[in-house]
Amino acid sequence: MPYGELKIFAGSASKQLAQEVVDFLDSKLGQMDIIRFSDGEVDVNIKESVRGKNIFIIQSTCPPANENIMELLIVIDAMHRNDARKVYVVTPYYGYSRKERKTKPRDPISGKMVADILTTVGAEQMLFFDLHTTALEGFFNIPTTHLGTTQILANAFIHYKENIGKVKPYLKDIPFKKISEERRFKVGEETVVVAPDVGGARRARDVARYLGRAHFAIIEKRRPTNDSTEVLNIIGDVNGLEAIIIDDMISTGGTMIPLVKILRERGAKKVYGAVTHPVFVGNAVKNLQDAGFDALFVTNTIHLPEEKRWKGLHIVSVGDFLAAMIHRIHEHRSVSELF
Ligand code: R5P
Repeated sequence: MPYGELKIFAGSASKQLAQEVVDFLDSKLGQMDIIRFSDGEVDVNIKESVRGKNIFIIQSTCPPANENIMELLIVIDAMHRNDARKVYVVTPYYGYSRKERKTKPRDPISGKMVADILTTVGAEQMLFFDLHTTALEGFFNIPTTHLGTTQILANAFIHYKENIGKVKPYLKDIPFKKISEERRFKVGEETVVVAPDVGGARRARDVARYLGRAHFAIIEKRRPTNDSTEVLNIIGDVNGLEAIIIDDMISTGGTMIPLVKILRERGAKKVYGAVTHPVFVGNAVKNLQDAGFDALFVTNTIHLPEEKRWKGLHIVSVGDFLAAMIHRIHEHRSVSELF
């Protein structure tokens, strides 16, 4: 085996996604027990030899972020102490990503601090999806692969539009396929892609470009507090179009939810949402259900248990895409050829 043996392990936050990845690779998850001592401390018991192997650990550092980060660190440590050849860390959702700079005097930069801890403990290469800001990649002095979900979410939207009423709540067979320009542009003609803020403009532009003839709008907003937003203006025309709001994450829903009503008031015929990371904290699930989206698309970078799913929510799997990436990285092949 020229590249050494590949073995994929899952942290407790990402078991379902990791299982999909190994299924695509026709492989099996590495055997490992993650347990808690009675005082709450984490312990890890790797149940098979990792000596000389290339290890990929998949663990989103989503809520409970501190627990999941600590667990990930202990798994990395266990791999190195037991002679793994190389440890690759896949954080489909990278927690603390919204803290990549000081926003007021005497602030920490926690995104950088988490990167430092991961590399100190032994992460030798990182993979993530849709970092809140690309600057985060520069916090690591090791190779990083930053995967986007533009095509995955846009394909799910096209599939939805072409099969209204027949789309499954969990989509894992279409997102990564190639869709002809003709089909993409046809959907684009009646669509306005909406960036919920200036920071999200690049991501939304990518979707608009993929849909070819799509219109584009940006919401101008301000944030009076960390968890609330106020819309000042919509730059671009949404009247008579079907709007799709693109964002990297929904946390409380405070950003997305008010936009549904405002876009409808401005004449949007339908309002969809497509976001990568469904963080869904507090009352987000209930509030999103009541928000009036025609459909909401999220990926499975964060696992959503049944009680956090509802009719109208479509979970789009990144499993096959991630599997292809892991396979290529392991074989030292280009990953950008797949974009
Ligand atoms: C903000 O810059 C982000 O891109 C998201 O819009 C935001 O973090 C979502 O959080 P919430 O759902 O709490 O508004």
